[in-house]
Amino acid sequence: MNQHLKPAAGLAQDRAPILETLRDYIAGGTYAFHTPGHKAGRFAPPELVELFGQTAFDYDLPAMTATDNLLHPTHCVQQAQELAAELFGAAATFYLGGGATTGIAAMILAAVPPGGTILLPRNVHRSVAAALVLSGARPRFIEPQVLPECGALGVSGETIVAELDRQPASAVLVTRPTYYGLARDLAAVSAACRRHGVPLLVDEAHGPHFRFLPEGAPRPALDEGADLVAQSAHKTLCSLVGTAQVHVGRNSPISPAQFRDAFNLLQTTSPNYLQLASLDASRRFLAQKGRDLFAGAVEAAQRLASEINALPDLKVLSVADDPRLAGHRQDPLRLVINVAAAGWTGYDAELLLRTKYKTEDELSDWFNIVLVTSPREDAAAIQRLLAGLREISDHPQPPVKSTIAEASNLLQPAIPPLAMTPRDAALGPKQVVPLAESIGRVAAESIMFYPPGIPLLMPGEIVTPEIVEVCRELLAGGAHCYASDPALGTIRVVCGEQ
Ligand SMILES: Cc1ncc(COP(=O)(O)O)c(C=O)c1O
Repeated sequence: MNQHLKPAAGLAQDRAPILETLRDYIAGGTYAFHTPGHKAGRFAPPELVELFGQTAFDYDLPAMTATDNLLHPTHCVQQAQELAAELFGAAATFYLGGGATTGIAAMILAAVPPGGTILLPRNVHRSVAAALVLSGARPRFIEPQVLPECGALGVSGETIVAELDRQPASAVLVTRPTYYGLARDLAAVSAACRRHGVPLLVDEAHGPHFRFLPEGAPRPALDEGADLVAQSAHKTLCSLVGTAQVHVGRNSPISPAQFRDAFNLLQTTSPNYLQLASLDASRRFLAQKGRDLFAGAVEAAQRLASEINALPDLKVLSVADDPRLAGHRQDPLRLVINVAAAGWTGYDAELLLRTKYKTEDELSDWFNIVLVTSPREDAAAIQRLLAGLREISDHPQPPVKSTIAEASNLLQPAIPPLAMTPRDAALGPKQVVPLAESIGRVAAESIMFYPPGIPLLMPGEIVTPEIVEVCRELLAGGAHCYASDPALGTIRVVCGEQ
């Protein structure tokens, strides 16, 4: 237990203040002459009430005196957040329903003053690109170390020191773990930030469960000195989709009150209480059972990895076997299965597993499929997955052809030069041009393939021939592009420059 904090209002981790408040309110029988309009499901499509159940509509209550509010909480929401801060080792925790996306935007708004610069390795999620547009912050991207077959790795403390020595910045943001579950130790990075008086922001969207993992797994960013940490609770904990939390570190130069000012700019006055209650109940559940459940999940994932590794030409990524991953730890629940030696692309493997074996992975790329595993996986589905992987292993294809893939930069090509801030490029006048004619122009939009959702091009960056070529290769390989024109016949560029 975090020794610096007293338990929330004397409550213990076996309480769930939001859930209990909703339950008591409903039990009290007060009639709602107030929003929401569905009035506990009486004025709702009957098929929806049947499908979701009456209880879901009963609990879909608004922010009001009885239920507290998210922006300036004073009772059950405050208590629930204090319990979360205690469990996750934070000075303060903020719950939200808009995903880590909103949390990341709030972190950047809180940490970077107008006109400020943020230092960040290039492998950021699209939510960071959006936050840069919202905030006006000027990004200074660091070229990350890249593993050709699974993109960017973590950044070292020395790199951050060298960059901060070279030029000051208002904040540093790192993505940790990567979508592939790789997490470089962060202590040296946080020490460098501390020495320079710069807050360290961590996009830990994929790592909220680190708190519950056994020894040897990546440590939570908060324990390694991060100041603000955004986590997608829905990704690897057990709350509803869209739920997330931001933690303020105990020694953060940004106080909880400062963070709240930015946070409140982005939050609705009508948070969804099903989401908040699910965060609250999940926190209680994990405080009681999280360590045991995740220990079991790690053992199960290790057994599954061994079975996959026994299939010829399939290989599960392992930091222990790969000297290129020195300094990194790995999320033991995330299995990165390389299918390239069998001559398959991850896209084709994903398609087979989806259509014939009724299993869906988290992500596919040119070389891999990535599985997210959790406690209590379904045994029959694991057998279907193994049958599908066996089919891939038994049917090797001619080697995958990709000149760029062979040249190694397909997943994380070189950073295009920045001509203006993402905000100026994205919100100023723009025009639509054919992709082929965009080389040398300033992008007015992000271009990314999803997953992993890391932009190849950010607003404000100059389109390079390599980026255009990588886009073409990925489209040809079957990757899904997120852009104004998903087929990438055209792209939006900034007007008035040539
Ligand atoms: C690295 C990373 N950061 C942030 C996010 C955004 O999280 P959310 O979907 O909870 O908004 C994602 C989502 O995929 C992500 O992969």
